[in-house]
Amino acid sequence: MDTLSKIKQPIQQELFEFRKLFELSLKSDNPLLQRISSHILSKKGKMMRPILIMLMARLHGEIGQSTLYTAVSLELLHTASLVHDDVVDDSKERRGQKSVNAIFDNRVAVLSGDYILATSLNYASKTSHLDIIEVVSRLGCDLSDGELLQLDNIGKRVYSEEDYYQVIRKKTAALFSACAMCGSLSVSDSKEDAEFARIIGDLMGICFQIRDDIFDYYDDEEIGKPTHQDMLEGKLTLPAIYVLNNTSEPWAHDVAIRIKQGVASLEEITRLVGLVRTNGGIEYAINRMKEFRNKAFDMLMGLPDTEIRESLIGYLDYIVNRDL
Ligand code: IPE
Ligand code: IPE
Ligand code: MG
Ligand code: MG
Repeated sequence: MDTLSKIKQPIQQELFEFRKLFELSLKSDNPLLQRISSHILSKKGKMMRPILIMLMARLHGEIGQSTLYTAVSLELLHTASLVHDDVVDDSKERRGQKSVNAIFDNRVAVLSGDYILATSLNYASKTSHLDIIEVVSRLGCDLSDGELLQLDNIGKRVYSEEDYYQVIRKKTAALFSACAMCGSLSVSDSKEDAEFARIIGDLMGICFQIRDDIFDYYDDEEIGKPTHQDMLEGKLTLPAIYVLNNTSEPWAHDVAIRIKQGVASLEEITRLVGLVRTNGGIEYAINRMKEFRNKAFDMLMGLPDTEIRESLIGYLDYIVNRDL
């Protein structure tokens, strides 16, 4: 059995129920919207967020209808953010198939993303749980805030770790944190439970994005999807930020600025990627990621030894070690 299947073992039935409700949420009598929904639903994704919601709900109580509505709401918000992200990044591929903007166009992708976002809020309201609605709607703000911060950083001549963490906390960790919190809130009124969930989700999300960013420094054949995309999009991530702040090679800084201005050639990008790889950039990012992982691990080790704790530890290690 692969790692993810083992992690999902205790929540298999609930994930099945989730999937049915998620498919239903995207049904429409508008033929164009229905085509888009079918396209999106044809590739599943890793379901990282619903898994986290279900595990946190099981950790703090018994999964119920509002846990399912919460999971649908947050997966819809994730889906909407990916549809919009591919417009912003002008990316033609998602989950190994064409992106919505590539099949249709930007107008269709923006509007259908809006529709999915609104449906997400509708599902949050079905929980009748004000705390959950608050977390989901605040998350909508954080995701856009993070994307805008990232966009604003692109043209700037500085590259600091602080800016990097600020962006990934908002664009990625906020979603993991909201998932963990909403899973907990859907079954428990305890403020301590919700706070535990918020922190552990944040740590997991930071690890997830650092790992995702590391993939971009390898070759396509090593990873199985287009790489060097971040630099092509004008973004410098943790491995490069570290090496740039610790190198005396003047050319590297010139290339970094050209990347941020969106004018670097693929040869220049490949040269900088090579410098990052041979100067400990990947190791540095892995070590930072492991620090966040260890904090989350220590929190989990403080819990009673149950199969849910085992799954949460497996989930954390999957995030850190995954190759997809
Ligand atoms: C993609 O998330 C967005 C990032 C935070 C990098 P996933 O890699 O979890 O996307 P799916 O849902 O599995 O396709
Ligand atoms: C994905 O971000 C979307 C959000 C986190 C909101 P990226 O642009 O960094 O990731 P991919 O590579 O397209 O999935
Ligand atoms: Mg993107
Ligand atoms: Mg993006």
